Amino acid sequence: MDDYKKAADTIREKGYVVAFTGAGISVDSGIPTFRGGQGLWEKYDPMEYAHIGSFSRDPQKVWVMLREMAQVIFDSSPSPAHIALNELEQKGYLKAVITQNVDGLHQIAGNSSVIEYHGNHRRLVCMNCSKKIPFTPEVVGIMPYPNCEKCNSALKPDVVFFGEGIPMLAMVRANEEANKCKVMIIIGTSGVVYPAAEIPYTSKAMGATIIEINPESTPFTSSITDMFFKGSASDILPKILKNI
Ligand code: APR
Ligand code: ZN
Repeated sequence: MDDYKKAADTIREKGYVVAFTGAGISVDSGIPTFRGGQGLWEKYDPMEYAHIGSFSRDPQKVWVMLREMAQVIFDSSPSPAHIALNELEQKGYLKAVITQNVDGLHQIAGNSSVIEYHGNHRRLVCMNCSKKIPFTPEVVGIMPYPNCEKCNSALKPDVVFFGEGIPMLAMVRANEEANKCKVMIIIGTSGVVYPAAEIPYTSKAMGATIIEINPESTPFTSSITDMFFKGSASDILPKILKNI
C-alpha cells in the first residue's frame, strides 16, 4: 500500500485531526520562510528587526521590514496545501489548524478553526492603548509608520515579536486541541521556536499519530514522527486527500 493511502486510512480511522503549520506551507503562496537559504532572517537580523525591544527603540527601522512582509502577504493567495487543509475540514476530519504563520492564508482558504499562535499580520495594534485596526494596502504606505488615531502611539502588526508572550487565548486553545487530537499533521516548520514547538510533543504524549511533511528532516522527525513525507506540502497534501 502506498504511503499516501496509509496516511489517509489513518486519518479516516482515527478521525480527530489537527494541523500544526509553519512557514513552509506558504512557500508556494510566494511567502519566504524565515530560516534556510532565502529565509527572511538571512536578510533581516531577527534580533534587530523582530524583537519587541528593537521595535520600541526604533519603530521606523523595523517598519522597513514590516512593510516588505506586508506587501508579500497582501500579494499572496492560498497554496494547494492550504486548499487541501480546507478540504480535510469540509470532509469532517480536520478540527483545527494551529498555525505559527501570520499570513491569514488558512482563513482565506476556508478553514474555520484557526489558532493564530503568533498573531496575524493583517491586523495592527497600538503599542500603548491596544486599539486594533485592519492592516490594509492603504495603510502600508503611511510614512514613516502608521500611528494610533486614538492616542497617536506607533502601531505594529498584531504579531508576536521575539520577547513577547503568546496570546493567552491562542495558548489555551492550542493546548486543548493538542491534547484532544488523534492525528497531528506537522506541515512546513523547522520546529525550533518555542513554546510553539512544544505542541506536537504534547499530542504525541497523548497518543496521537504524528504525520510530518517537510523537504528536510526536523527535530520532530527522528523523535515523534510516525509517518514522514519528504517534499513539498503543495505536492504531498493533495495526494493524501485524494485517498480520503
Ligand atoms: N513544503 C513544506 N515545508 C517546506 C517547504 C514546502 N514547500 N519549503 C520549505 N519548507 C520547510 C523548511 O524545510 C523548514 O523546515 O518549512 C520550514 C520553515 O522553517 P522556518 O523558516 O523556521 O519557519 P517556521 O518553522 O514556521 O518558524 C517558526 O519562527 O521566526 C519565527 O515567528 C516566526 O512563526 C515563525 C517561527
Ligand atoms: Zn492607541
